[in-house]
Amino acid sequence: MKLFVSEGNPHCLKVLAALEETGVQCEVQYVSHEERVVPFLSRPALPALLLPSGLHLFSPNAICRYLFEVNGKDCGELCGQWLEWEATDLQPALLQAFHMAVLQGKGSEVSKVLQGSLNYLEQSLSKGNTPYLTGDAASVADVVLWAALYPILSDSSLALGERNYVKTWFDRGAALHSLQSAAQNVLQGKGLQGTKSYMQKQPTPQSSQCRNTQPCNSSPAECEVSERLVSEEEMEAASVTWSKALNARPSDADRQHPILPMEGKRNILVTSALPYVNNVPHLGNIIGCVLSTDVFSRYARLRDWNVLFVCGTDEYGTATENKAREEGLTPQQICDKYHAIHADIYKWFQIDFDYFGRTTTEKQTEIAQNIFWRLHKHGFLVEDTVEQLRCEKCQRFLADRFVEGICPNCSYPEARGDQCDKCGRLINAVELREPQCKVCRQTPVIRSSKHLFLDLPKLESQLEQWLDKSTSTGDWTANAKQITRSWLRDGLKPRCITRDLKWGTPVPHPDFNEKVFYVWFDAPIGYLSITANYTDKWEKWWKNPNQVELYNFMAKDNVPFHSVVFPCSLLGAQDNYTLVSHLVATEYLNYEDTKFSKSRGVGVFGDMAKDTGIPSDVWRFYLLYVRPEGQDSAFSWSDMATKNNSELLNNLGNFINRAGMFVAKFFDGCVPAMELQQEDKKLLALVGWELQQYIQLMDKVKIRDALKHILNISRHGNQYIQVNEPWRKIKGDDTERQRAGTVTGVSVNIACLLSVMLFPYMPTVSQTIRDQLNAPQTCVSTMLQGTGTFVCALCPGHRIGTVSPLFQKLEVDQIEALKKKFGGQQPEDEPPKKKTTAQKAASTEPAAVPAPAKVAVNGVDPEKAKQLTQAVAEQGEKVRTLKAQKAEKAAITAEVAKLLDLKKQLALAEGKSPEPAPQKGKKK
Ligand code: 2FM
Ligand code: ZN
Repeated sequence: MKLFVSEGNPHCLKVLAALEETGVQCEVQYVSHEERVVPFLSRPALPALLLPSGLHLFSPNAICRYLFEVNGKDCGELCGQWLEWEATDLQPALLQAFHMAVLQGKGSEVSKVLQGSLNYLEQSLSKGNTPYLTGDAASVADVVLWAALYPILSDSSLALGERNYVKTWFDRGAALHSLQSAAQNVLQGKGLQGTKSYMQKQPTPQSSQCRNTQPCNSSPAECEVSERLVSEEEMEAASVTWSKALNARPSDADRQHPILPMEGKRNILVTSALPYVNNVPHLGNIIGCVLSTDVFSRYARLRDWNVLFVCGTDEYGTATENKAREEGLTPQQICDKYHAIHADIYKWFQIDFDYFGRTTTEKQTEIAQNIFWRLHKHGFLVEDTVEQLRCEKCQRFLADRFVEGICPNCSYPEARGDQCDKCGRLINAVELREPQCKVCRQTPVIRSSKHLFLDLPKLESQLEQWLDKSTSTGDWTANAKQITRSWLRDGLKPRCITRDLKWGTPVPHPDFNEKVFYVWFDAPIGYLSITANYTDKWEKWWKNPNQVELYNFMAKDNVPFHSVVFPCSLLGAQDNYTLVSHLVATEYLNYEDTKFSKSRGVGVFGDMAKDTGIPSDVWRFYLLYVRPEGQDSAFSWSDMATKNNSELLNNLGNFINRAGMFVAKFFDGCVPAMELQQEDKKLLALVGWELQQYIQLMDKVKIRDALKHILNISRHGNQYIQVNEPWRKIKGDDTERQRAGTVTGVSVNIACLLSVMLFPYMPTVSQTIRDQLNAPQTCVSTMLQGTGTFVCALCPGHRIGTVSPLFQKLEVDQIEALKKKFGGQQPEDEPPKKKTTAQKAASTEPAAVPAPAKVAVNGVDPEKAKQLTQAVAEQGEKVRTLKAQKAEKAAITAEVAKLLDLKKQLALAEGKSPEPAPQKGKKK
């Protein structure tokens, strides 16, 4: 056997490490990168292994696997899966990272490119609970991944973020002699830089953004849209569609309440997990529940499905009682206060509920008690005695979180009633030594009390039958299926549905009349009661499984209650209830590198977003862009600024603005005649394809992935304009002028399509674009029909409205100030909600600079004023230069808009009132 490798080629690191690790006898030969070792291949492929049979292996992972197999170590399924992941997911990201770090000198951006893969690895290692990827011993998967990651992870200059599991696992590999010597041979002791000669010979890697369906945080603005090959047929089909007529359907604005299921329609009942009333929701809560649900509902309405979207506050339970105690109010007052806070926040975020209710209503009592009695009648409730701690002084049973004592396992003195923070063991509160009531510090007593349990084991087989069907026919996210499976794998146990509390739905059974229902029995029934408060005919939605599809949106911690416990309640009640068809669960959103925390004042909470001066649509856009779809993700201020400035401003906004401006400037505001050439038809096909992808993904509730296709369309559009230069052609001969007309007409129609596709994500921007283009309402109902219908909605002669820029730049210092403000440096006694005058001013002014609370006095901020004076001077210079160069008018207009905005910000920072933006009469 002979192994051919080359210096600097990172793939060779893997095979050399595997060779030494397995001890297989094999000659090693170093060749140049260009050497064609495998005779029948038309390109050099290294590493390559010449087998005794004379055959070749030339995929690095196949070689490694082979070496391990020779050594008697077969690669199991899990191991195979890791190798595939390495080849298809990790490698493209790694190559891009090498390219950036080694050839572009952008080491600081490597972490962005790799974060998805590294997070996945971290999560898998933490869940796997074994020291190596596939078990207790290192396998070929470990060796391949160690070697693949070696150049990056051994380079301490790359700030990749802390990942403890990855670190511990990688350190094990890095200590191996096999890996060290392979690295020495391949990288020549130069670390990452050792790959330079190899990287220089490789084609520029495609940004992972271009692999359209991959969620990714890298900046797509830097990446050209990948050129899809378009066939003649596709081009013809696209131009036929283009010439179709708009088709009229009543618009969404005509929605008539109450919405009820309709014969012959797709009837969709959509719920968002009911947010707890006792807290202000943070961005993570908002993206996990109401915002995702809103996007999907808006989309579903565009698709002409018959949609009902209900939500409301989840108001009962201990947490509400405690909040009431904390704030010196009654539970009812707390609910009223916070229900209004939630409603306000969601209104600001433009969440378009059909009905936003609450759980503390008579309907709730009626429906919950009815379900209870039916479960009772059918024998699905069992009684048991439970030992609980009761504080005689406070006169209440203590929920686990409200008792503290010495851990029975490790003697940690401050263990909680459910878990010890020191040894991590789960604790039964009655086992705590020297327990104390956390409220009054008295010693509680143990009391036995009778409770009712939902007999899940008895319902298990029915549940499984239903689950098999629902999960195979519906769209359940992977995490929802997996969490549900793991609950079932462990076997179901009876679940207590009663509590010794006051603030809850009363248990109607005479033997339990002091008790209320446990919140997780009660809360999902809230979906039904909220619908019942919306319409008396609520059963047409909720007892109609044949006609209605139910979508439940939530964060992953809510999954078992929606996939196991609640369906069991409904199945056991035997009343033909509508059960969930599509269970859509997000992962978690972090805040920068940490978690949201109210008590530490870390993160942005719903009520603060509007005080940042950043428009609601931009918040929506960014949260949806980083939606934790498939894996945890993070909100980051600087990333938000980057995405705003690159994607919204430079890509999307720039395209739409240019298209509209060309019509306004060159064609007197009327869409010109268009004569489609091959190039235009190709663009129509490309755009049509992106539209189809968008529809396919949205139908499957892949909200984050679908958004990327909108941005691809405007990238195509920008390239098209750039190549065709209508601003130049308009000054040419007749043919050229006609060409300018076609390009402008096609572009402005793409802008119109974009307004429709954007509607679920950015409803205000969507409406603004349609207003600017004076687009017919029917374009909305036409474009999202079937698999997507990109028609010419703005025909020649159509008069558009007034065009103006859609987005504003987020400046570095503005973002720095916000980061500081929300980053957790807030003293505990200074509630983050409190507004300074400067921030109040900022909130009325889109993208005005909210100064940090400590600096600005009455809105005056000399330091900021200084910076802004400088920025105004620079921007002024830029505008003058552009004018002198006779640059494209649209470009000048955009820069002038920035200048005006800077001047406004400066006025604010100087404590003056900003001049109204001189829009009218100054037609650009
Ligand atoms: O986790 C939560 O925020 C719960 N209030 C969700 C309840 S969802 C439904 F069941 F009501
Ligand atoms: Zn007490």
